[in-house]
Amino acid sequence: MRSEPVVTLTRLVKRYGSKTAVDGLDLEASAGVTAVLGPNGAGKTTTVETCEGYRKPDAGTVRVLGLDPVKQAAQLRPRIGVMLQSGGVYSGARADEMLCHIAKLHAHPLDVDALIERLGLGSCGRTTYRRLSGGQQQRLALALAVVGRPELVFLDEPTAGLDPQARRATWELVRELRADGVSVVLTTHHMDEAEQLADDVAIIDAGKVIAQGSPEQLCKGGAENTLRFSGRPGLDVASLLKALPMDTLAAELTPGSYRVTGTVDPQLLATVTSWCAQHGVMPDRIAVERHTLEDVFLELTGKELRG
Ligand SMILES: Nc1ncnc2c1ncn2[C@@H]1O[C@H](COP(=O)(O)OP(=O)(O)OP(=O)(O)O)[C@@H](O)[C@H]1O
Ligand SMILES: [Mg+2]
Repeated sequence: MRSEPVVTLTRLVKRYGSKTAVDGLDLEASAGVTAVLGPNGAGKTTTVETCEGYRKPDAGTVRVLGLDPVKQAAQLRPRIGVMLQSGGVYSGARADEMLCHIAKLHAHPLDVDALIERLGLGSCGRTTYRRLSGGQQQRLALALAVVGRPELVFLDEPTAGLDPQARRATWELVRELRADGVSVVLTTHHMDEAEQLADDVAIIDAGKVIAQGSPEQLCKGGAENTLRFSGRPGLDVASLLKALPMDTLAAELTPGSYRVTGTVDPQLLATVTSWCAQHGVMPDRIAVERHTLEDVFLELTGKELRG
């Protein structure tokens, strides 16, 4: 894998009339899989379409594989694969014809039949794009983006609306692309998708990157860091705190519902349960919760990720 970034965006601005969709966005994507995560309207599609050369930035610089996607489009296009959120596929053509056509334009395409099989499009070959179901159209768009074996693929919400089986097939394909040395930039609303696939995650909100890092880094090392239990209301939280390590917090959130935050390891769990035993408390529920990207997003923006 190369070490230089595959995408570098510097202070990118893109406006639609008076609406600023991308607002001074800085982003560097390295080889591997980068997930761009954000709520509806955050500016994900605008950012990705700017990288693809479909939109001209109002300010800032865009480099994709070291090239300017607008001025050096002719050099860049053959090296990237693009799956648009809005489809963008010629609707009257047959699925198999489209794939073969695109494959022939490239020097080292993937095997078309194998790709059709992989993505469960076997029964769709002779069907025109327009007549395919939404999920089939989406899988065909993915196949078209990757069939030319590009160096870098942009996938805009590749699994939105797919059934679980097609979603897994898409994930599998992304993992294989990565193993094959293809870099992937994908947008998603799905935390689990980013956690499963991405080496690096950029969280964007209101046209800016508000956090970036590996899923583990963003989730604070993935340590399980919240322990919740319920017991009778009004337990002596100060006494519980004294029993816990220094960096741990404890609170009664609502009457009878307690939360302990910190590095939740087996020792801490044992400390809490033995404190309960000493105080005659029988918790009717104990749960250890991992910090997820969803929590990170909520903390950073005060918003739920799925609008
Ligand atoms: N062609 C357009 N004309 C005017 N406004 C637009 C256009 N495209 C996008 N916008 C606006 O720019 C903002 C960012 O839109 P964008 O499509 O980039 O968001 P997104 O993060 O991809 O959202 P989603 O998760 O819904 O796909 C939104 O407020 C949107 O309404
Ligand atoms: Mg979008």
